[in-house]
Amino acid sequence: MADARFLLVAAGLLCATSPALAGDAARGKQVFQICAACHGDQPGDLGPSLVGVVGRKAGARDDYRYSGPMSRADFTWDRERLRSFLRDPRGVVKGTKMPFDGLADEGEIDDVIEFLASRP
Ligand code: HEC
Repeated sequence: MADARFLLVAAGLLCATSPALAGDAARGKQVFQICAACHGDQPGDLGPSLVGVVGRKAGARDDYRYSGPMSRADFTWDRERLRSFLRDPRGVVKGTKMPFDGLADEGEIDDVIEFLASRP
């Protein structure tokens, strides 16, 4: 019984402290350091620039050679789509060449999306 009560308290705390509505761009900038290894906005980087990615069609930069699946992806990167992709990149774009397994922490996902949205 003690365990169940602990879980209830923990769940309550989580609801009270988690930024359910929006992430935090400043924290997201820290998270983005993981992404920047491949998305550093330099020609020759492994991944495409993510400047302005929120609201952009997937696989649409002219200066980057996307995988076939990413260039054929028929959607726009809104927050919801980015959230699913960052949880499970290959689940959202089967066959993507992004060699990254995604982020496990929902808070980090929201934060990094907020950071991306802050770089129009
Ligand atoms: C190890 C390298 C690597 C890391 C780390 C990485 N990515 Fe990528 N990412 C790629 C590559 C390569 C592609 C191109 C995928 C394709 O063409 O299938 C890509 C594509 C993307 C796209 C699609 C862009 C577009 O123009 O459609 C998004 C969004 C993205 N990554 C977000 C992220 C975020 C956010 C992070 C950090 C949490 C991250 N990636 C970490 C290599 C990486």
